[in-house]
Amino acid sequence: MSTKSTSHYDVIIVGAGPAGFASAIRCAQLGFKTACIDNWRNKEGQSQLGGAHLNAGSVASMTLLQSAKLYHQLNHDIAKHGIYAEAISLNLPQMIQRKNKVIADISHNMAQSLVHHGIDHIQAKARLLNARQVEVISTDKQVKSILTAKHIILSTGSSPMKLDNVPVDNETIIDSICALNLQTLPKKLAIVGAGVVGLELASIWNRLGAKTILLEAQEDFLSVVDQQISGEAYRIFTQQGLDIRLGARVISAKTLNKKVCIDYQDQEGTHNLRVDKLIVACGRKPNSMMLAAPEADLLLDENGYVYVDKNCRTNLPSVYAIGDLTLHGPMLAHKGIEEGVFVAEFIAGQYTPINYENLPSVIYTGPEIAWVGQTEQDLRAAGVAIKVGSFPLHANIRAQATGKTDGMVKIITSAASDKILGIHIMSTLASELIAEAVLAMEFSASSEDLSRTIHARPTLSEAIHDAAFSLKQGVMQ
Ligand code: NAI
Repeated sequence: MSTKSTSHYDVIIVGAGPAGFASAIRCAQLGFKTACIDNWRNKEGQSQLGGAHLNAGSVASMTLLQSAKLYHQLNHDIAKHGIYAEAISLNLPQMIQRKNKVIADISHNMAQSLVHHGIDHIQAKARLLNARQVEVISTDKQVKSILTAKHIILSTGSSPMKLDNVPVDNETIIDSICALNLQTLPKKLAIVGAGVVGLELASIWNRLGAKTILLEAQEDFLSVVDQQISGEAYRIFTQQGLDIRLGARVISAKTLNKKVCIDYQDQEGTHNLRVDKLIVACGRKPNSMMLAAPEADLLLDENGYVYVDKNCRTNLPSVYAIGDLTLHGPMLAHKGIEEGVFVAEFIAGQYTPINYENLPSVIYTGPEIAWVGQTEQDLRAAGVAIKVGSFPLHANIRAQATGKTDGMVKIITSAASDKILGIHIMSTLASELIAEAVLAMEFSASSEDLSRTIHARPTLSEAIHDAAFSLKQGVMQ
């Protein structure tokens, strides 16, 4: 391995997922000499930007889900429209190839954008040496160099967690990354964890025809979601054929004769389940191992999250951490993007703090689930006096016209001031509808404001208007 001489930057960003990439672009826009280092490679060994979010997370997952929905619709829904198609077949490798092409194109555009902004894109593995220096080893391990910078932003994201006694071999017992690249359809599939990742993967493989069983340790389904919505989601998903077993803790799994034998425990005792594949989707952990040399003294907590203050500063002067690496807010791409932009501007002497309270969350299932603000159960537990309005999708004209009537919009307001405290949506394209809710909350809107805002007809967004309208005085609840 050869060693190259030192280069100096204003800002070095380690990791080019959504957070690191957004930060790099903003740094360059603000006039900083910027380098962005990333070591993600695809199966062919080519460098790809975008991190786990693009290559092995939400984007990959929603791209495949789109294909799976089309396939399912052709097989199950189109006869209602008077359309009959015969000999519909599934070419799974081609479907995966399309997903990979979508990802490669987005990654290519990101690389061009770095060039366009004059950012040095370094394809290498980086390690923090101290508050000003980063050691960089090229992805072919041939060149090692040391880069210095006035500011360093750590943005290396997260990766799937493992379970004791459930050895991932990525053949029969697979992680959530491998689960987006299957070349053959498993007849019977189990997923450990009915969290966001588990449900998104289940929505894909169930629609493509795999008998899908979700094993979830918690007794409550989607406990972070508003209970009325999660209850409705449970009903809809089970109706779609998902076998969701709650209070079912997986304790071990092993491969025998190309099948997976799973042991799980619930209130009734220990059960054994045999499936073709098992996906482990039981949470994610920050990518902080080997991120810093021991002598750098970068402070981590006991779970490996990088310690940061409210301005994303680590314990080292001029070293910042953003995105999934920190415990600041949930592991969401758009949270990381906001932090990336915030830190770039903070370094430039601008200060616009992030409002973590109005972060939207989305689960890309069918229908989608999206929310912003607080849930009814949390507000009631805190003793807040609230009013609740809702509107079912089956009464929305656009939903009826498209035949996608599952779901609802729910708005929670302060009983005293009518200020909106939370909006919860389950619907087709809830991920798009939630933007209006975020904007309303960002501007401290009341339900009265929403009910007086004119919405185009016929649209799904009318359901937000109508949920707000149901809170008007004089409307029967
Ligand atoms: P999660 O924490 O949401 O769900 C994991 C589930 O696994 C939990 O419900 C847990 O009870 C269960 N579990 C753990 N051990 C188990 C066992 N032994 N047996 C049975 N169940 C067990 O984690 P997930 O789904 O992996 O997501 C990780 C993070 O990534 C989340 O913060 C999520 O918000 C984020 N993410 C967000 C996406 C989005 O915005 N659409 C997409 C993908 C991930």
